[in-house]
Amino acid sequence: MTADTPFDAMFSGVIGREYQMLKLICPFAAEMSRLVGAEVGTYCRTRDTLAQVVELGGGTGITTLSILTAADNLTVFSVDNEPTMQAQARESLSHWADLGRLAFCGDDALTALRGLATASVDVVASAYTLHNFQCDYRRDVLVEIYRVLKNDGRFVCGDRYALDDIPAHTRNTQREVAGYFETLTGINRLDLLEHWIIHLFSDESEDHIMREGLALRQMAEIGFRELTLTHRLDVNALVTAVK
Ligand SMILES: C[S@@+](CC[C@H](N)C(=O)[O-])C[C@H]1O[C@@H](n2cnc3c(N)ncnc32)[C@H](O)[C@@H]1O
Repeated sequence: MTADTPFDAMFSGVIGREYQMLKLICPFAAEMSRLVGAEVGTYCRTRDTLAQVVELGGGTGITTLSILTAADNLTVFSVDNEPTMQAQARESLSHWADLGRLAFCGDDALTALRGLATASVDVVASAYTLHNFQCDYRRDVLVEIYRVLKNDGRFVCGDRYALDDIPAHTRNTQREVAGYFETLTGINRLDLLEHWIIHLFSDESEDHIMREGLALRQMAEIGFRELTLTHRLDVNALVTAVK
């Protein structure tokens, strides 16, 4: 965050410090973390070897914990380039790190993936991270996810996938904003309200918005197969794919 780009590092300020408040304005986020973990666990339990899971944008560790508890035969390499967020995960999940089941990486997603060997990873998982990426960067990340996955490896992504029906997506977003105001003015947290609204402008901007149709087409072009989009609730959906 600089004077010229005061809102670029979206998770370094009050949003990052009080990320647990998200459950008030987006109760479905916790369910999405559970769904991502369950999906990863179901796949890993079909394997008889230790599965290597890479998590992109691990944040404060909510989805990381869901993944770790979903199966015994997996390890997580959790990537997040925002120290305010990752420091909370490092603290709350230190037990898992001590057990050797969890390692952290502070690089950005693309740099971290580029550092991994081709066909070396069983699952790449993520929750509410890819929609934060600028579109070209996101495409590069998807190419790298495909490269690092083993054949038959899985990509599991619970995130904001905007509807292709633009008016319907706008109505979803308007309802979302109304919910932010109702919840955060109700507890007199106008500071958080300001930052989440600013954040939403970035999510919805032309160079960030992750539309469902384009996202799935892009993944198919890269080579992913068996693409599914399920559990849609308003702007949220779970995407899975196979290499
Ligand atoms: C909305 S939070 C989600 C956190 C977590 N996945 C969860 O389910 O609670 C998005 C996270 O992605 C991280 N992030 C954003 N851009 C990133 C990038 N380019 N590389 C790595 N992490 C990134 C942010 O720092 C933040 O912690």
